[in-house]
Amino acid sequence: MDKNGAEKSSLPPLSAVARTLPASGIRKFFDIAAQMKDVISLGVGEPDFVTPWVVREAAIYSLERGVTTYTSNYGLLELRKAISTLLENLYGVTYNPDNEILVTVGVSEGMDLAMRAILDPGDEVLIPEPCYVSYKPCVALAGGIPVGVVTTHADDFTVSAAQLEAHATSKTKAVLLGYPSNPTGSTMPREKLVEIVNLARRKNWYIISDEIYDRLTYEGEHVCVAGLPNAFDRTITLNGFSKSYAMTGWRIGFACAPPDVLQAMMKIHSYTILCAPISGQKAALEALRSAESSVNEMVQEYNRRRRVIVKGLNAIGLNCHMPKGAFYAFPDVSASGLSSEEFAEKLLFEEHVAVVPGTAFGAGAEAHVRCSYATSLEKIEIALERIGKFMDKIKAGKVATSGHGSRPI
Ligand SMILES: Cc1ncc(COP(=O)(O)O)c(C=O)c1O
Repeated sequence: MDKNGAEKSSLPPLSAVARTLPASGIRKFFDIAAQMKDVISLGVGEPDFVTPWVVREAAIYSLERGVTTYTSNYGLLELRKAISTLLENLYGVTYNPDNEILVTVGVSEGMDLAMRAILDPGDEVLIPEPCYVSYKPCVALAGGIPVGVVTTHADDFTVSAAQLEAHATSKTKAVLLGYPSNPTGSTMPREKLVEIVNLARRKNWYIISDEIYDRLTYEGEHVCVAGLPNAFDRTITLNGFSKSYAMTGWRIGFACAPPDVLQAMMKIHSYTILCAPISGQKAALEALRSAESSVNEMVQEYNRRRRVIVKGLNAIGLNCHMPKGAFYAFPDVSASGLSSEEFAEKLLFEEHVAVVPGTAFGAGAEAHVRCSYATSLEKIEIALERIGKFMDKIKAGKVATSGHGSRPI
């Protein structure tokens, strides 16, 4: 019987893509952790800061004045102008606010639009992995085929043009780069990006560059891919306010691309989303006008935590490269003798610390876990103590290991 008491009838199958999409590997751990008391979560990929007050105040004020309408499909012109100025100032890349910038509902929507605008069924997209959980599903939902290109700890999880070329076929249409990287925290050196741009030009591929963590770069420079020679015409730049400005809940991002590509994305956006929410756009505009010092303060704080967590993990015996960007440490946990899934699960139950197993992010991360340092220094220090205790218990044979780890102790 259904809810209205009528006989239940069978339905046609859901779409094949929807049926085969895997559930996010991150959710499972959040759900378990949420039920437990006293958990320190290094699992969340979200700033622990509240959106700066000036930004919140601007949005509140706009609501008080009754600013509650749709905006242009492209987004508020003032905001697009401010985004254009930002990218010009930071990277010397010039996007025309009239037809090369689209305000989106986060990078999440920008990614979906980019894939739907460029892919035909069966087109392949090269994706260095481990990578952010939504990259492969976004390609699949647009009818494309995601092709993972495995990167390694030994290469600091960067990818080379040669690795990408080795995975190319006549169906390859684009390469998706996400640096600084979630989950590895790695950044890409300029020389490697130049080679990838040259390859993309030779093969006539699009480049989609997710630069959401650009401002959270602690060592070296962030290279905006579209600013490299020969890159602009084939690159879709995705960025947003969620991470740098602590504005995840406002759902504002932006996509920048040459006019024809942006126009295609805008058409899809206009029929599916119409426009990003106006209060969020007002807040984003204020963020660009007045929150620069807050961004710098948050970046400094992340940087402090980054050093503490990486030093602490290495001292415990978990080999952790120094991430140059984003807010994730990505230690190799094989010294525990546990697989990354087991490590995350047992650490949660034994010591109440939540981390995310590397397997949630694709191939190449089986021996790793992701530890977010977007949490207070105090909590990071307690988490490190607990992880140390957990490793001591393992050494004392007090935690059962299944022997699935790649290097049992
Ligand atoms: C690499 C990466 N891209 C995109 C997103 C989604 O960002 P937004 O909040 O702008 O949709 C995230 C969020 O965690 C991310 O880590």
